[in-house]
Amino acid sequence: MGETTKRTARLTFDDKSIEFPILSGSVGPDVIDIRTLYGAGDVFTFDPGFSSTASTESAITYIDGDKGELQYRGYPIEQLAEKSHYLEVCYLLLYGELPNAAQMSDFEARVTRHTMVHEQMHYFFRGFRRDSHPMATMVGVVGAMSAFYHDSTDINDPWQREVAAIRLIAKVPTIAAMAYKYSIGQPFVYPKNSLDYAGNFLHMCFAVPAEDYKVDPVLAKALDRIFMLHADHEQNASTSTVRLAGSSGANPFACIAAGIACLWGPAHGGANQACLEMLREIGTVDRIPEYIRRAKDKNDPFRLMGFGHRVYKNFDPRAKVMKESADEVLGLMGIENNPTLQVAKELERIALEDEYFVEKKLYPNVDFYSGIILEAMGFPTSMFTPIFALSRTVGWIAQWKEMIGDPTQRIGRPRQLYVGPKQRDYIDVRHR
Ligand code: SDX
Repeated sequence: MGETTKRTARLTFDDKSIEFPILSGSVGPDVIDIRTLYGAGDVFTFDPGFSSTASTESAITYIDGDKGELQYRGYPIEQLAEKSHYLEVCYLLLYGELPNAAQMSDFEARVTRHTMVHEQMHYFFRGFRRDSHPMATMVGVVGAMSAFYHDSTDINDPWQREVAAIRLIAKVPTIAAMAYKYSIGQPFVYPKNSLDYAGNFLHMCFAVPAEDYKVDPVLAKALDRIFMLHADHEQNASTSTVRLAGSSGANPFACIAAGIACLWGPAHGGANQACLEMLREIGTVDRIPEYIRRAKDKNDPFRLMGFGHRVYKNFDPRAKVMKESADEVLGLMGIENNPTLQVAKELERIALEDEYFVEKKLYPNVDFYSGIILEAMGFPTSMFTPIFALSRTVGWIAQWKEMIGDPTQRIGRPRQLYVGPKQRDYIDVRHR
């Protein structure tokens, strides 16, 4: 619970003067608790895009946009990316502490034994066109999980909430891999319990029945790091979508499907696909100035995908780790001169020297380098956002559990500033 400080904020307008408590968290900006404003002052606050609005209190992830810091349960992302692994980060985000060896082993066993989906779900895919975007398939099939796993949809039962969390962390990668296999006309590959989380995903995506598939440990480690970097990110658009859906009492599978739908947008998780397509369109370093000019042109809707962020007004710490990982992975694969990587590095260098980007504090974000690594691993651009979605599932479900577990939580229901027609009487069609 946020700490009430001795400080208050006073709002004075017309003949009213209303005082509000100021709350402090453990770190970061204080908040003015305005929950009594409408009752006391008969006015709403107005903050489209929520730039100045805290929608909840949370103990899961902290971001300092000015310093470019990201912490999961207090642990800096740089340390986790170097020393931890995705399933350990899942445990940390869900339960608040790093697991000991026994807890880690038990958690890993529970997730591993939930990776298969109900066999009937295979038929769902046949209803989609083969050229469906895998995000469309994932929204449909993850939402349909509530039609199969009725025994983990009662949100008021802590045990069912726990089972739903494990099922989602375990099954969303399987569904994402199935969406990919379906799109390329290859048979589904079942999960293998002998593989770790990232290795299992690579196997489900790239193995074929006709021959053995050996997981490359370098790629598996790099993919596991990508999963960690995307695991959670405070109250971003898709997490806020999951929380709002959950506030109505919707089941966890429906809430995560809503989060996947929101993440798909190119301003959010869809930016990794859009960014690689942009880098390919630029093609060569000499064409970068043309695109920088377009990005600055108010009359041109073009934006540098993978650049800018609502919160980070400094380097996105995830982009830094991702850039190092791109150098490492492509170097080990002997493709360090990958033209897309060269264009990305030169684009970053030029943009960060350009006064437009400096003045607007636009830096590369998590989506700027991730696509380069994923493409080098063999994933098509259409799989970049599904990989973001499977990584973020643990963050969504941790935030959902935190909200549902809060006895004070209420349905989220914002108000509006109405600017439409005032009341008027109906006119018969003969007189219009
Ligand atoms: C993610 O919220 C999260 O935490 C998200 C995320 C997560 O982990 O969940 O971090 C993941 O979504 C990362 C962001 C991925 N999106 C992109 O890379 C798409 C390109 N970036 C933008 O569209 C934009 O920067 C946003 C959407 C990310 C942020 O938008 P804001 O905060 O609403 O900022 P804005 O659109 O108001 O931009 C402020 C100014 C504008 O200029 P002015 O109107 O003030 O003159 O900066 C300009 C914008 O035109 N600007 C850009 C730009 N991004 C912002 N100009 C050129 N290229 C860009 N990429």
